[in-house]
Amino acid sequence: MSWKDKLIIALDVSNADKALGIVDMLGDDVSTYKVGFELFVSSGPSIVERLHEKGKRVFLDLKFHDIPNTVSKAAVAAARLGVFMFNLHASGGCEMMKRCKDRVDEVCLKEKLRRPKIISVTVLTSLDSDSLKNELCVQHGVKAQVKHLSTLAQKAGLDGVVASPQEIAIIKNACGKDFLVVTPGIRPSWVPPDDQHRTATPQAALREGADFIVMGRGVLQHEDPVRALELISLEILTA
Ligand code: C5P
Repeated sequence: MSWKDKLIIALDVSNADKALGIVDMLGDDVSTYKVGFELFVSSGPSIVERLHEKGKRVFLDLKFHDIPNTVSKAAVAAARLGVFMFNLHASGGCEMMKRCKDRVDEVCLKEKLRRPKIISVTVLTSLDSDSLKNELCVQHGVKAQVKHLSTLAQKAGLDGVVASPQEIAIIKNACGKDFLVVTPGIRPSWVPPDDQHRTATPQAALREGADFIVMGRGVLQHEDPVRALELISLEILTA
């Protein structure tokens, strides 16, 4: 398996034309794209259909966080869109995650749909222990909170979590190697961290056992994103 099978490019752009331009530019190098708030709110579900028409898989990154009934209905709608993976916030609690998983299982079975992978966000990669403690009153630090929320997501029956590359080992140790870890906060060696606080290079994240790495600015803000992918490949091969 090539490292590119584990790569997810974040289409953090303002409209469908820009997003599809990126997809055409990267061609066969990238098979999975992440659709987040900005693109989904500006373009609607049709962007997911257009990516599917181009043969791409979609990670719908809408980080659902609401009462169990509301989230499970949104989750069913995501499953009916045929996305490969979507996410919700583990801090919404066990009942929210479990209800969502159970409803999606039921509907997918009944309607003969492929069940999307359901993963939960643990602690955003833009937060650190200080912000957790001083702003959110979580006293026990990022790593303990990530471990706690990962085990909660596993108990609820989810497939995995979104977490920083720095927490992969903790999660795999606590939840087992088959529990998926999807890592944003990925920065090639030549890219600044921007607003991300818990980052790693692609090769470090893959070495630690990330199942998927999500990259946005590290590739798309390069003057030549195709070249950026080649440079990352080189870094990985020579590591
Ligand atoms: O540009 P950059 O590579 O930092 O983009 C990371 C992407 O991953 C963004 O779309 C961001 O919303 C998303 N993400 C994240 N941290 C999470 C979950 C998703 O950065 N915990």
